[in-house]
Amino acid sequence: MSNERETILSVRHLVKEFPLEGGRVLTAVADVSFDVRKGETFAIVGESGCGKSTLVKTLLNLHAPTSGEVLFHGEDITKLTGEALRQHYRNVQMVFQDPAAAFDPKMRIEEILAEPLENYGLLEKSKRRQTVEELLLSVELPADFADRYPHNMSGGQRQRVAIARALALRPEIIVCDEATSALDVSVQDSVVRLLARLQRERGITYLFICHDLALVSLFAQRVLVMYLGSVMETLDAARLQEARHPYTQALLASVFPADGAKVIPHTIRGEIPSASDRPKGCPFATRCERCTEICNEKAPALREIAPGHFVACHDEKPCTKR
Ligand SMILES: Nc1ncnc2c1ncn2[C@@H]1O[C@H](COP(=O)(O)OP(=O)(O)OP(=O)(O)O)[C@@H](O)[C@H]1O
Ligand code: SF4
Ligand SMILES: [Mg+2]
Repeated sequence: MSNERETILSVRHLVKEFPLEGGRVLTAVADVSFDVRKGETFAIVGESGCGKSTLVKTLLNLHAPTSGEVLFHGEDITKLTGEALRQHYRNVQMVFQDPAAAFDPKMRIEEILAEPLENYGLLEKSKRRQTVEELLLSVELPADFADRYPHNMSGGQRQRVAIARALALRPEIIVCDEATSALDVSVQDSVVRLLARLQRERGITYLFICHDLALVSLFAQRVLVMYLGSVMETLDAARLQEARHPYTQALLASVFPADGAKVIPHTIRGEIPSASDRPKGCPFATRCERCTEICNEKAPALREIAPGHFVACHDEKPCTKR
């Protein structure tokens, strides 16, 4: 289904390095390429520190990329500066895990929601209250929440305000960076249903960073699996069980064990290499049970093994383990 849609975002060979003391370099994003289609939920998964947040910040141009291209409707936004870049930010908004940290505690919700529109000169004073109330209603909060302060709300309500603020500029893409991860399961469920409704009604594209593969398999259409700054696998969420990469299989085994016994995700054995001392071969080699000589010598290229299914692994055998 997703294959029929227009591509909204093309990421090509994106690299983000951070300089460290002593002339060393930390490679947080290492040659990442993928396409996102308009109106889909594109999930980015992987263990803590694998580069998910840096990837989205770099592709939004919040971090200047070291190299690579990010094409938004075909235009390379890494080349934008000044006013052109400021105007581009209207198209892409972010929702973070902890909105309490993002909001100024001294601002009322009315001010918090009006601010993005006012920053772009898009809100007439006479329409301020009405616009804010409409935004609150769109995220299923009562209109009189406009008079509250962030600390007078629950975590789920604050996250709805964060979504309303992201919606204010009518962006085409919303990046949710672990936006539902801190919420209780039932609250998380209602926020995900809200995101899904907004997507149906407005055609919004989500980049959905989430460590919960079970949630991803329900909410996303496409999944990108990252490890040590590199893409290991990209595939349709509906086909997650057909994942071929040993790392994706290990993540899946921890959530959907074949024998019904739940395994703890961090039981994938072996050390994660440092992002400032990346192995020359496969990034997953130190933890992979299928590692062979070539894996330590040469990094596997990302190749398309079936329509829309990309894998970076030297082992061409189909998944037999699970
Ligand atoms: N500003 C920075 N300067 C130097 N290193 C950074 C910076 N930001 C991130 N890193 C490093 O880049 C790597 C990727 O970090 P990032 O925050 O993108 O991971 P993540 O996948 O989002 O992790 P988490 O799931 O914990 O949020 C890590 O090694 C991190 O220490
Ligand atoms: S390339 Fe080798 S080490 Fe890397 S995931 Fe594939 S089999 Fe494992
Ligand atoms: Mg992160």
